[in-house]
Parts: sequence; C-alpha cells; structure tokens
Amino acid sequence: MKLKIEGGVRLTGEVDIIGAKNSALPIMAATLLTTGKNILHNIPDLKDVHTMMSMLEVFGAKLKLKKNILQVTIDELNHIDPPEDQVKQMRASFLVAGPLLARLGKIRIPLPGGCQIGSRPVDLHLKGFQALGAKVASEHGYVELESKGLKGASIYLDLPTVTGTENIMMAAVLAKGKTEIINAAKEPEVVDLANALNKMGAKIKGAGTDRIEIEGVDALSPIEYTIIPDRIEAGTFLVAGAITGGEVTIRGARKEHLGAVLGKLEEMGHKIEAEDDKITIVAKSVGKACDITTAPYPGFPTDMQALFASLLGVSKGTSVITETIFDRRFGFVDELVRMGANMKVQGNTLIVVGVKRYSGASVTAGDLRAGAALIMAGLNADGITEISGLEHIERGYESIDKKLKLLGAKVSIEL
Ligand code: EPU
Repeated sequence: MKLKIEGGVRLTGEVDIIGAKNSALPIMAATLLTTGKNILHNIPDLKDVHTMMSMLEVFGAKLKLKKNILQVTIDELNHIDPPEDQVKQMRASFLVAGPLLARLGKIRIPLPGGCQIGSRPVDLHLKGFQALGAKVASEHGYVELESKGLKGASIYLDLPTVTGTENIMMAAVLAKGKTEIINAAKEPEVVDLANALNKMGAKIKGAGTDRIEIEGVDALSPIEYTIIPDRIEAGTFLVAGAITGGEVTIRGARKEHLGAVLGKLEEMGHKIEAEDDKITIVAKSVGKACDITTAPYPGFPTDMQALFASLLGVSKGTSVITETIFDRRFGFVDELVRMGANMKVQGNTLIVVGVKRYSGASVTAGDLRAGAALIMAGLNADGITEISGLEHIERGYESIDKKLKLLGAKVSIEL
C-alpha cells in the first residue's frame, strides 16, 4: 500500500482533531485496575489502539470499539504472560506492567527492546517498581515483577520519562501509603491519565508539575471518561497548512497544549488565530527559518520535530534543529533529501538550508512521525510523491488521507 500525493495544492478548510493516542493507550491500560465496565470516549481508531485492545484481551478484558467509543469490561484478570510479538510491535504495551503488578502482584513481560527512533530503555520504570517494593528480575529478554503488596515510596526519575511516570503512577495508586514521583513528566497525557485515575477513585495530586503525590487506596472503580485531543495530530494539520501556504482551521484542539508549536509557527511568520475551540493558521507563502530544540513538555515536542524539519526545509534561510530526547530521530532526512531538501545531520543536530520547493519522489516512511514529515513534503512538492511504509503512519493518524482531502489535498491510497 502506498499513499500517493499530487503536491502543490494550497490547503484550506476545517478539520476535527481526534483523541490523543498517547492518552488513550495509558488510560486503556489503567482500566486493568478496575472491575466492571469502563466507557472511554474520543478514542482514536488507530493501529496502536487495536494493539492495546488485543493486549487487554489477553488478560481477560472484553472490548468493543465503535464510533470512537471504547467499552472495556474487566471481570476477572488472567494471570498470563503477555505475548512477546505484541510488546515488540508497540512499546506502549509495556504500560500494562504497572497496573498488572498492582493488581496481580506478579507479571512476566517481555522487555520492549530497541526501536526506529532510538534506544528506549525501561530502566526507570523498573527502578520505580523496585522502589515500591517489587522484586525485579530479568532473563531471556523478559522481566519478572513480583510483590507481596506494594508500599508507597519517594521515587526520583533521572529523566522525566512519560510512560515511566505513567507506569509508576498506575502501580502506586493501589500501594499502601504515600508515593512521590520527583522529576515527573509534565506532558498533558500524564495529566489526562491522572485525571482518569482520580475519577476511578485514586488520590493523585500534582500531575502536570514535576512532583506528583499519590496516596494509595484499596480499590478503583470503572469510569466513563473523555480523552483529551491529540496535540500532535493538531500540530500536523497546522504544519500542513503552513507548508502549502494555506489557511487551515483545526477544531477541538487545546491551545494551551500547543504553546511551543504555535510559538514556532509564529516565529516563522505564519499568523495564528485562536478562538474558543478553534485554531487557524493563515500561512505566509514562504515562512522564515528558525532554530528548534526538542525538550520535555512544555518544551518543543520531539514528536513534532520531523514535521517541522520538513516545513523548515522549504522556509527561507538556515535552521538548526537539535534533538535532545531520542538518539535516532533523523531517519527521515535521507528521504527528504531524495525530494530535493538541503539538510545535513551532525550528531544530534540537523542543519536545514531552505530550498524553494520539494520535488515529488518515491519515498519510504521508517517510523510514524517520519511518515508524517514525508506527507508534509509531498503536499508541498512539485509532481507526484508516493510514500510506502503506511503501516507506520496508521499507528498514529486516523484517516489522514480523508482529512487531507477535506482540506483540498490530492491524496489517495494505492493498493
Ligand atoms: N528513558 C530512559 N529510561 C527509561 C525511560 C526513558 O533512559 O526507563 C529515556 C528515553 O530513552 C528517552 C527519554 O528518556 O531518551 C524520554 O523518553 P520517554 O520515556 O519520555 O518516552 P516514552 O514514554 O517511551 C512517550 C511517547 C512518545 C514520545 C515520548 C517523548 C507514548 C506512548 N509515547 O514515549 O510518542 O515521543 O514520550 O515525548 O506516550 C509517538 O507518539 O510517535 C511517540 C514516539
């Protein structure tokens, strides 16, 4: 399957933003902490969500996803080792470790291993579980976690890991006594998970700051909950507007989650108008270069880095992009160069000299956000761009072809 784009159309119109993948996945895992029927609204219909659904099924959950509403019913949990291929397929599968440790007291789970965007250890997740009193042993590519009852602890994270903070939070909600996570991740998705857990009956304070406090409770109840909008999908459509010199309105996104992205678009000279739940970009035909350094929230998101590299590749002047979160997140550069980009990787920086316009070519998406960056370049390009590796893009974008078509883009999926 390939995504075919005939570039050069100025995108205009409005598009709705789906629920955040990176909120949906941990909140789905958190349902393992409850008994009964959970109803989650605004769940994006994505490959990663289906992978998490299969993962929850393994443990005995009954699931139904229809029109972005997911019902997860947990009656009894199976004591089963999660299958290795599922954890390998999606690193976020490791998010079941915290809830299952809290709930079952024992779990054997494959270590997720490497991935396209860099080395992604889970040592900080494991240190957190250990601090809560779990025995942690790894062998043959699996990690075994065991506890006779978790106890609250003070846990300092060397790095503010997002899924690490989430996993530890989910283990600590049922621990005895008080836990504090110091240098916690502050991403909106961490706050969304904390809000969902609190609705289940947990006692979590401070989510969204670098110190989260959790007072353990005995049990949690199922919830009805609506997932926050996806700030990365929102940013993607704003970049699509910018790279085509268009005027695109995104509906349902939260401006407060997009500070760094909107700030950089404005610095490039594009106009941003925000009202109620709508954000519009009125793009200049050619924006200005700017420098970007990725950082944990509220810094510039690493998940938007490739998309901005694509945009800066056709902006006026020289930009320097520094990636500080993952060590192999410039995999898209060679593909953009095939489309006429003038960019060069030096260590963890990317030097981008803006060219006038991309030229359509056959390219391959190596990971999710790299794929999105190639779509952006294709929208700008002269001629036809064919992108393979669609399976990566489908992990994080729901019907991206249909949404782009709504904005006037000439895109189609070719079998
Ligand atoms: N790290 C460690 N040890 C750990 C955990 C993390 O050294 O135990 C390091 C990582 O290697 C990395 C840094 O800490 O250098 C931050 O990684 P983090 O753990 O925060 O990333 P993550 O939780 O695995 C989530 C998102 C990613 C997003 C990152 C950064 C989910 C499911 N995934 O990953 O999203 O890029 O945070 O914001 O929430 C995507 O959606 O395309 C995606 C990759």
